[in-house]
Order: sequence, then C-alpha cells, then structure tokens
Amino acid sequence: MEVLEAIFTRRSVRNFTGQPISEEHLKTVVNAGFCAPSAHNKQPWHFVIVRDKDALENISKVHPYAKMLPQAGCGIIVCGDKRKEGMTGFLIEDCSAAIQNMLLAAHGLGLGAVWCGLYPVPQLTKPVIKFVNLPSAIVPVGMVVIGHKAEEKESIDRYDDSKVHIEQW
Ligand SMILES: Cc1cc2nc3c(=O)[nH]c(=O)nc-3n(C[C@H](O)[C@H](O)[C@H](O)COP(=O)(O)O)c2cc1C
Repeated sequence: MEVLEAIFTRRSVRNFTGQPISEEHLKTVVNAGFCAPSAHNKQPWHFVIVRDKDALENISKVHPYAKMLPQAGCGIIVCGDKRKEGMTGFLIEDCSAAIQNMLLAAHGLGLGAVWCGLYPVPQLTKPVIKFVNLPSAIVPVGMVVIGHKAEEKESIDRYDDSKVHIEQW
C-alpha cells in the first residue's frame, strides 16, 4: 500500500476474527516501530509481545478500553527506557512515533490494529508493569492491539480549515 493511502485510510479496528497473525507480519510491524524517528536518535523503545491467552485476558480485565485484546490475539506493549532518554525528555513522543508507525504498518499489511493508551494513567500502567514484569526504568507507553480484522471501516476526511493557521494563530 502506498504511504499516503495508508495514512488516509487507517482506522482503529476493534473487532477481530481470532485468527493469529503470522510471525512474518508480526516482525514487519515491530520493525516499523524500530524505524520511527526519535529525539537525538536515542531509540529508547522496547516491544513486549503478548500472545498468551491468560495474559491477554488479564490485561483486558484491568484495561476498560482494551476488551478486544483476547479476540485480537496479540498486544504489543511499546515501552520507553527512561535511562535511554538522556537529556531530551522526549520518551513519550519517541514511543508514540513508534506506535503510529506500527499502526500504519499493520494497516498496510491488511491487518487491523488499535492503539490502547497506557501512560500516563497509573491504573493502566501499574498492572501492566506487574503482568509483563517490567524493570523499574521501563515505562509502558501504549499497547498496539493487532489481529485479523472482522470489520471494515470507512476512511474519514477530517481536514479542518479552522484548525490550520498560516504564519500566526
Ligand atoms: C493515546 C491514545 C490512546 C488510545 N486509547 C485507546 C484505547 O484504550 N482503546 C481504544 O479502543 N482506542 C484507543 N485509542 C484509539 C482512538 O480511540 C482512535 O484513534 C480515535 O477514536 C480515532 O479513530 P481512528 O483511529 O479510527 O481514526 C487511543 C488513541 C490514542 C492516540
């Protein structure tokens, strides 16, 4: 899929067939995360791939907006390493760029995906830290829920002239 087509047609998918995604697709999506820009090129990300049925159930029980996770069959927890962010302080932006790359890659592969927020909500980050055993310097920023789509969503034109400011606000 061409890059602009991917950007303009990507939507959050929350209904999945339950069919597992292939190792090759998974690797491509994670690789897209690694290709994201990062401040000072620190690449402070780590990716925790969760496919265990019980683990997916456990996360979906504590995350009120990730109920689709067990049906999707895969959650990739995108984490930032506080020790790697150095002086820049852009850990969340770096990991968010990785997440967006991964969403677009999933869409380009014909898969469905949705970004489930974690940081900065302690009720979400704390249990996830425990479930996947994150070291103290590692922040779970967000989770990419990914699987085979059981729904097709229309693309939406969201361009809004009133939010575009030329030279000054
Ligand atoms: C930081 C962030 C957190 C989000 N968290 C969730 C979530 O927990 N569960 C969910 O279903 N969607 C979540 N979303 C997806 C948004 O709801 C979705 O992007 C938005 O409704 C626009 O729809 P679209 O992605 O189809 O364009 C999140 C998106 C962002 C950027």
